[in-house]
Amino acid sequence: MKHRNSLLCLVVAALSAVAPVHSLVDYANVFIAPQDILNNTYPNTGPANQTIISWAQSSVQGSPWTVMNKPFAPPSGDYHDYESWAPYEWADCSNVHNTTALTPEQVWQQCNYVNRDGQLNPANRVVNNIGDFETLADAVLYNSLAYALTRADDYAQNAASFVNAWFLAPDTKMNPNLNYAQMQGGPSGQVGTHTGVLDLKCMVKIVSAVLLLRETQAPKWTSDIDAGLTAWAQQYVQWLTTADIAKQERAATNNHGSFFYNQLAALQILAGDTDGAKGTIEEYFSGIYMGQIAANGDQPLESARTRPYHYRAYNLAAMITNAKLGQYVGVNAWNKTTSAGATIQAALDYAMTVPPGPSETSYAAELYPNVAAVAAVYGDPAGTYAAFLAKAEGADYVSDACFFWSQPLGDSGFAAQLASATPAASVTGKPTVGTGSPSPSTTAKGSQKQDSAALARRVGGVYGMLVGVCALVAGATLFELL
Ligand SMILES: *[C@@H]1O[C@H](CO)[C@@H](O)[C@H](O)[C@H]1NC(C)=O
Ligand SMILES: *[C@@H]1O[C@H](CO)[C@@H](O)[C@H](O)[C@H]1NC(C)=O
Ligand SMILES: *[C@@H]1O[C@H](CO)[C@@H](O)[C@H](O)[C@H]1NC(C)=O
Ligand SMILES: *[C@@H]1O[C@H](CO)[C@@H](O)[C@H](O)[C@H]1NC(C)=O
Repeated sequence: MKHRNSLLCLVVAALSAVAPVHSLVDYANVFIAPQDILNNTYPNTGPANQTIISWAQSSVQGSPWTVMNKPFAPPSGDYHDYESWAPYEWADCSNVHNTTALTPEQVWQQCNYVNRDGQLNPANRVVNNIGDFETLADAVLYNSLAYALTRADDYAQNAASFVNAWFLAPDTKMNPNLNYAQMQGGPSGQVGTHTGVLDLKCMVKIVSAVLLLRETQAPKWTSDIDAGLTAWAQQYVQWLTTADIAKQERAATNNHGSFFYNQLAALQILAGDTDGAKGTIEEYFSGIYMGQIAANGDQPLESARTRPYHYRAYNLAAMITNAKLGQYVGVNAWNKTTSAGATIQAALDYAMTVPPGPSETSYAAELYPNVAAVAAVYGDPAGTYAAFLAKAEGADYVSDACFFWSQPLGDSGFAAQLASATPAASVTGKPTVGTGSPSPSTTAKGSQKQDSAALARRVGGVYGMLVGVCALVAGATLFELL
């Protein structure tokens, strides 16, 4: 949900007097243990429950997603290989004395590419496996959550068919590697780089979904699909633990490393390797974590970046996810201190004291799910965290999906108000069904339009119908950040 709010969006949102529909938020990452949903008896979660169901329904737009959806093949020639282009790379065609205009593919392969740090190149989203994967991860997650909450088969069917299309169906499956992730372009840049391993960090969401489908014994989550995904995960874990670029990402000391451990531990859990997952989480907390939080709670490796507020929130999401994965396999790292003596809670407390700068106001909401998560785990005896969220978001925070699984957390009285108000998110009993079997596509079907649609699904905290307008205005400004 990295986006630039346009003035128009703000004005439009402010003018709309309708009750807020909390539109789908693409959280940086999240691990949800089955019991957080199935044994959730907190009475104030009704609005968040409704949000989860409405997100499940809206998330199916554009389905199914597959790795085949790109305009030309990666260097292997195999469309089944995942491909993405590094976001800050720009073509310099002075090396190619072309007399006729080059196609985008020729530019990509022949021109030199130069890095302009922090300057996103929209042309690099012509290949959008990354955007499709993130959309898929949210759709699988919210449909599985909605199944667990309602037991309506269509939701589980959606999740199963989305997983099948991306990972398993012979015509459309992704090969279990990231050999061509975040390539830099040009004659010397036709290889993946370690930063591209970050592209699949949201595997954690898919793992959360699968654990829930297993726990609820959803009939539509068949043993064939479960076994197929497990086998895929085992092969991909092999790649994650042996490929050179994966090893480089594992050694990264900042958020890249934190998210690497998210991904690896979650996949080990999916594949039933609990001991492996424990080892992974212990390696993180005795390894790079030790250098990530200063005595005052700052995260120096993130604060040094171009968008310090965003990066602090981003790495917090990864640290919290590692702690939750650890908790699931019996490793309690919540009170683990870094070399400087600080905990995850200290990192959150510090981040809350530093508002986003003028160039970062559109990232403000990224911190909120972390506030909710920390409040639920460490407690909120003085109501500090709930008050922070109430001040920042008003009633929005209790209708945010993450409020459901971040319990206990005070609702500041908003839940009862929302429950008595006319439900704005018309949550019908009838789930939306994803379109049937996937068809492979090797053309980028209007990637610009897809970006806008994806943005519409990702931007949070605005009003449902209006997000599409904002997406059109914001255009191609949506990019995942390094
Ligand atoms: C929910 O709680 C019950 C009773 O404590 C327990 O038996 C069950 O395993 C829990 N479910 C999950 C998914 O943890
Ligand atoms: C969530 O909402 C669904 C549909 O309204 C309802 O059937 C279910 O009981 C709710 N579950 C919880 C835990 O609130
Ligand atoms: C050379 O290629 C670039 C990039 O495609 C293009 O913008 C430019 O017009 C081309 N030059 C000529 C002379 O065609
Ligand atoms: C952290 O340590 C304190 C003091 O021992 C303890 O009360 C608390 O439960 C611990 N928190 C977690 C999340 O384990």
